[in-house]
Amino acid sequence: MKILITGGAGFIGSHVVRLFVTKYPNYTIHNLDKLTYAGNLANLSDVENLPNYKFIKGDIVDAEFISDLFKNENYDAVIHLAAESHVDRSITNPLEFVMTNVIGTVNLLNAAKELFKKESSKFQKFYHVSTDEVYGALGETGMFTEDTSYDPHSPYSASKASSDHFVRAYHDTYSLPVVISNCSNNYGPNHFPEKLIPLCINNIKNNKPLPIYGKGENVRDWLYVIDHAVAIDAIFHNAKTGSTYNIGGHNEWTNINVIRLLCKIMDEKLNRQMGTSEKLITFVKDRAGHDLRYAIDSSKLQNDLGWVPSVTFEQGLNLTVDWYLNNEEWLNNVTSGNYANYYEAQYNKR
Ligand code: NAD
Ligand code: TYD
Repeated sequence: MKILITGGAGFIGSHVVRLFVTKYPNYTIHNLDKLTYAGNLANLSDVENLPNYKFIKGDIVDAEFISDLFKNENYDAVIHLAAESHVDRSITNPLEFVMTNVIGTVNLLNAAKELFKKESSKFQKFYHVSTDEVYGALGETGMFTEDTSYDPHSPYSASKASSDHFVRAYHDTYSLPVVISNCSNNYGPNHFPEKLIPLCINNIKNNKPLPIYGKGENVRDWLYVIDHAVAIDAIFHNAKTGSTYNIGGHNEWTNINVIRLLCKIMDEKLNRQMGTSEKLITFVKDRAGHDLRYAIDSSKLQNDLGWVPSVTFEQGLNLTVDWYLNNEEWLNNVTSGNYANYYEAQYNKR
């Protein structure tokens, strides 16, 4: 198979690319990425020379470029991860999210549809990677299932919900063979340090404040990124056309408890006196429209495909902290220059 993976230089995409190029040496994997602030080819330096891997720099918003690419490469399948992914950025710049997440997805769908309808086409799957945030927010109880109605609250989740609707519309209207998965919050190596866990790892390391929005009572359902990549592999190969799968680790934590656990792990690893890092916790102004709680019911995935997470949160968080402490150069690179300026400006605004 010749597969186009979009957004493969980002956090989750790089783990998906690595899994596919190493596990399936007979597949050809093209990684299409614009290399925004979140895209980093260093994430894939260990596999970049493999013969079944090729990087293509490009923008999914450029319809002509995407159309030509599909015509020339005659792909068998697409795994689409490219997106603007940070909720806080979507609050300051919603249009960028509409462009990449909605228009970019529709450009890919159009190109896939044109390829699919050709008689000579081998095109068999458009796999759209999405988020549980499309379902909105839960109260104290309940879980999102695949049948939960969409109710997005942030510009990010609204743009992802819109892209999910377009993917289903192309299935229903043009019979395009599509699959969608909606996953909970990921954490792990290569996570850009603007998101809660890597931001706090970096700040603890540098003795900087740990900004907790509101009272830290919001709940997220955390999944180790490699478990997400393994689920994507299982769904890509086994899911029925037109189906949707929720992916999550049954691993709900309030933000404040995530950060307390992280502080404890880092005090141990940095040989600091227990309690040192917790002193850095700083409660800051809440995020606008901050969803209270996400929780995923992934029993369909477990029952149909036998997928279960491979690590507990404590194990995954230990592995993650080790990765950041052992990859100082990566962390220094992405926290210098434009990104550092952006973060400082945002932080000072709070
Ligand atoms: P990320 O921000 O780390 O990476 C996104 C990648 O897409 C980057 O490499 C970036 O350069 C690329 N990109 C952005 N705009 C592009 C464009 N116009 N054209 C081509 N490439 C472009 O994001 P992530 O956290 O790895 O998320 C990947 C996907 O998984 C997204 O679709 C996201 O909505 C979804 N998702 C993320 C999470 C999470 O917790 N991070 C959870 C569930 C679903
Ligand atoms: P984030 O990592 O941005 O993921 P998402 O918004 O997609 O869930 O945030 C995770 C949780 O942590 C969310 O409830 C917002 C909160 N948060 C903070 O309290 N402080 C921060 O500096 C950030 C980035 C997030």
